[in-house]
Amino acid sequence: MTHPIDFNDENSNTSANPSFDSVLQARLSRRGLLRGGVGTVGSTLLGGLAVSACGGGDALAAMPAPALATESLLSFAAVAKTMADTVTVPVGYTASVLYALGDPLTASTAAYKNDGTDTGFENRAGDHHDGMEWFGLGADGKPSTTATTRGLLAMNHEATTDETRSSFFLHADGGTSTLPRPAAEVDKETAIHGISVVEVKSSSGKWATVPDSAFNFRLTSLSENIQLSGPARGNALMVTKYSPDGTRTRGTINNCGTGKTPWGTFLTGEENWAGYFFRSTTDDTTRGGSAAKSVVALKRYGRNAGSASRHGWESAGTADKYARWEISQGTGAAADDYRNEINTFGYIVEIDAYDKTKAARKRTALGRFAHESAAFGKPVAGQPLAVYMGDDSRGEYIYKFVSAASWAAADANPADRVTTGDKYLDSGKLYVAKFNADGKGDWVELALTNTLIAGYASYAFADQADVLVNARLAADAVGATKMDRPEWCSTNVANGEIYFTLTNNSNRAVDSATMPPDSANPRVYSDIKNGASVQKGNPNGHILRVREGAAGNAATGFSWDVYVFGAESSAAPGTVNLSSLTDGQDFSSPDGLVFSPATGIMWIQTDDGAYTDVTNCMMLAALPGAVGDGAKKTLSYTKADASTLNVDTYVGKAPGADKLKRFLVGAKDCEITGLCETPDGKAMFINIQHPGEGTKMADIADPSKYTSQWPSNAGYGAGKRPRSATIVITKNDGGRIGS
Ligand code: FEO
Ligand code: CA
Ligand code: CA
Repeated sequence: MTHPIDFNDENSNTSANPSFDSVLQARLSRRGLLRGGVGTVGSTLLGGLAVSACGGGDALAAMPAPALATESLLSFAAVAKTMADTVTVPVGYTASVLYALGDPLTASTAAYKNDGTDTGFENRAGDHHDGMEWFGLGADGKPSTTATTRGLLAMNHEATTDETRSSFFLHADGGTSTLPRPAAEVDKETAIHGISVVEVKSSSGKWATVPDSAFNFRLTSLSENIQLSGPARGNALMVTKYSPDGTRTRGTINNCGTGKTPWGTFLTGEENWAGYFFRSTTDDTTRGGSAAKSVVALKRYGRNAGSASRHGWESAGTADKYARWEISQGTGAAADDYRNEINTFGYIVEIDAYDKTKAARKRTALGRFAHESAAFGKPVAGQPLAVYMGDDSRGEYIYKFVSAASWAAADANPADRVTTGDKYLDSGKLYVAKFNADGKGDWVELALTNTLIAGYASYAFADQADVLVNARLAADAVGATKMDRPEWCSTNVANGEIYFTLTNNSNRAVDSATMPPDSANPRVYSDIKNGASVQKGNPNGHILRVREGAAGNAATGFSWDVYVFGAESSAAPGTVNLSSLTDGQDFSSPDGLVFSPATGIMWIQTDDGAYTDVTNCMMLAALPGAVGDGAKKTLSYTKADASTLNVDTYVGKAPGADKLKRFLVGAKDCEITGLCETPDGKAMFINIQHPGEGTKMADIADPSKYTSQWPSNAGYGAGKRPRSATIVITKNDGGRIGS
């Protein structure tokens, strides 16, 4: 959040629909909510290895490792908040750097010098490692769901550390922040975006990448032949000079959260893609004025006429690979320019991590927005699949896709994974969430058969493809609930409930006409700060959870509550620290969220700009209960006209110290993101993204002024420039992570 322009905070939801009925009158009781503590995974009191890490000094001798079936979870001592430029894990655990920006992916790629002179990033780890999934490999080199010592990590490279346009750590002198950008700089920057797949293996307990593995590959923002799949394939909205028939595009960009399909492929979400495109000041006029459909759509996705691009890639030359980043309409036909290029971004993209020869698919049926993760509800044979997704911008929405095809268990191990993806992800229904003040909610289908969509005054949808490509507009039309920036979601392996991180929202305000506090986003307050700049709105975020109705994945109604509210432990308990967080578990701005299939632990990762005056970003382990295990709470606000605004919300049972614990604190200026494990839960991979992000480009020649030198200061790699990196966490006694 130290970035001068917060690309996660794009704010283009100016629709009139209220967050929802924010002046709450009489409402139904929560009687219908499902209750009861669904048992999380075994929590006996076999003390285990709770050797104090960062707090006390009671370094007890480790007890013998308990049997897995009865092991105690969360028995480690909570890691203290810290601003040290290091990665801190509990005593008894080891964190090792595995795969950092620039690391080679082929045998012939030179070692990374990390001085700004490196090239060939198409064969190196990209930047800003983000979401990540594990794909096991057996000893025979074939896909395996049980392998624990050899596998592939498929991960996102979301973005790059920049100040004004230039990704300055990639260039020897910090690069060029003015236009035009030099082609040599742009070629590096386009190549460090996208995804990478890298083989990793463990020998004698030591994990390493396999730099010469034939499995390794990159997709960048320029990779050829990405297929547009599903209802928008071939639609007029997709026609570009690169693909006059509207079936293909190049590359994937700003890849943030991830998912893994039940059939074993990798899903990557394109998040803040809009900011990479340049649009001229005269383009509204060229397109027919402010009421023209394409102008309305571009504005709704944050591209007003005159929008500068994040890096100025369009300025680097006349070659097509640069020109495609300018989306101003030309004088000819759509197939003559890149006016529609932006419509080919903003999707969940499916990739076969095991087979780099298979074309990636952008799944248009899942809608186009600022995608984070894609989490499947529990697959049930004979029933449709559900995919849950968030749109991360202030006031954007939560979505669910329900497949037309019913799940066949045989598809868990298909002969052709990508074709299996076509079966489940190219046809189905897209829904958006409305959260009601009674603790219930509705999934509203985004279809032209809905008269609110067909008759929407602001935008005339041409067909269902238009509804999907402009899903935000369709969701506006049906009055979806504006959320506090939906980030990741994940499904509780114990009970099937779906958890959503709502990271923060500076626009939530008591007197806002369009985003007042509501039941599902109920807090408005000021962040506690030592310094002068106090952040307002909902600076610390919260984690909301949903329990589907009886129809499960296909349900159109649900119950919800807030599992936990982010807060500083010293914040006011009645209005801010509603979950009674204590020193060993307080946090701000939850972002990454992953349930471990091995342990059932819910891992929470932060990307924060509020509590960072006290601590670096962190990861916490949680054993949550279930929707309805807490209580209703009414928050009361005084508006500017002195009237009272009462907001009912539903607060989950306060997570006691044994059910929510800080497990890790990251290096300086990083966010913690991405998480996957070996199937036995004994090796965990996470990403440390953008350490040193607050460094000034002008200080490039003086490493002592970098705000971080991680992981070089941890003994990894050459140079002192900070690098995003994957780390692997193991437990010294060989036990599962989080026990
Ligand atoms: Fe890429 Fe919304 O975090
Ligand atoms: Ca994120
Ligand atoms: Ca984020």
